[in-house]
Amino acid sequence: MKIRILVTGSEGQLAKTLNDLYFDNTDDLEFVFVSKIDLNITTEDQVSCFFNKHQFDYCVNCAAYTNVEQSELQPELAHKVNAEGVRVLAEVCKNHNTILIHISTDYVFDGTSKKPYTEEDKTNPINEYGKSKLAGELIIKELLDDFFIIRTSWLYSRFGHNFVKTIIKKIQENSELKITTAQIGTPTSCDELSQFIVFLIKTSSKSFGVYHFSSLGQTTWYDYALEISKQFKSYNKPKISPTETFVTKAKRPDYSVLNTNKSNQIFKKSYYWKDQVNQTVKSLI
Ligand SMILES: NC(=O)c1ccc[n+]([C@@H]2O[C@H](COP(=O)([O-])OP(=O)(O)OC[C@H]3O[C@@H](n4cnc5c(N)ncnc54)[C@H](OP(=O)(O)O)[C@@H]3O)[C@@H](O)[C@H]2O)c1
Repeated sequence: MKIRILVTGSEGQLAKTLNDLYFDNTDDLEFVFVSKIDLNITTEDQVSCFFNKHQFDYCVNCAAYTNVEQSELQPELAHKVNAEGVRVLAEVCKNHNTILIHISTDYVFDGTSKKPYTEEDKTNPINEYGKSKLAGELIIKELLDDFFIIRTSWLYSRFGHNFVKTIIKKIQENSELKITTAQIGTPTSCDELSQFIVFLIKTSSKSFGVYHFSSLGQTTWYDYALEISKQFKSYNKPKISPTETFVTKAKRPDYSVLNTNKSNQIFKKSYYWKDQVNQTVKSLI
């Protein structure tokens, strides 16, 4: 029997990566991808009706309100999707014996640590997006025993909107860029995260709980942009300079590197962030 997996938020970059890598590629897994139009996770009736019609072994929740800046202006929107939508999903998962795999963020931490955050470290989000994502985590923990919460950081991919694609576009347009050195974190490829998600499903790992997952190493946004720019060898010499001041509506944690020992112990493939970024940049230019 195939393992049936529902993936929400199918128009987002993580769901698109899962679709690209696995939709036709696995004999033992059957994926169903649903967009916000097919299944709005905040609409309780629609979600419960959908789960009454279809049975799933796993639900990978890639649906989220991810606009960090806009979340400051409209925190209720972030909360509606990232907390109340997650409650709707968690409740149906409980009623239908579906294991929820939920994606969370390094922004649940305040960034005052000097060493990588473990799963047990104290959360203390400093922006509305982070608060809404933490609220979602707490709801899952309150309602479910069988769940995975994967906290990840600085996601990028070939799809959707992300830092790698933005920097490539700016370099191609010959723009002058000032990029902040103020925050330290770890870029993580959606390819790598997708592999970890599928690993959890395929190994039927029953070690439920919270996992930190990112590439290895750490960087600033400025050094990350420089690494992207290295692939532009023969044309458009990039004009990128560092800045400490970068005014945004949302505060960001100064330091949000995740300690990934727990996930690395079960999933042996982990890659240095620069190698992963270079692969994606090469595929995009
Ligand atoms: N991007 C990052 O750097 C990062 C870092 C750490 C953690 N994460 C987490 O990783 C997960 C995946 O992120 P991502 O970068 O793939 O996000 P994304 O590209 O913004 O995709 C999120 C998707 O969810 C959809 N969505 C929004 N509200 C919905 C609703 N009510 N019902 C169903 N779908 C809804 C969005 O549709 P619309 O665009 O039409 O609203 C979008 O297609 C999220 O949980 C995010 O919080 C992301």
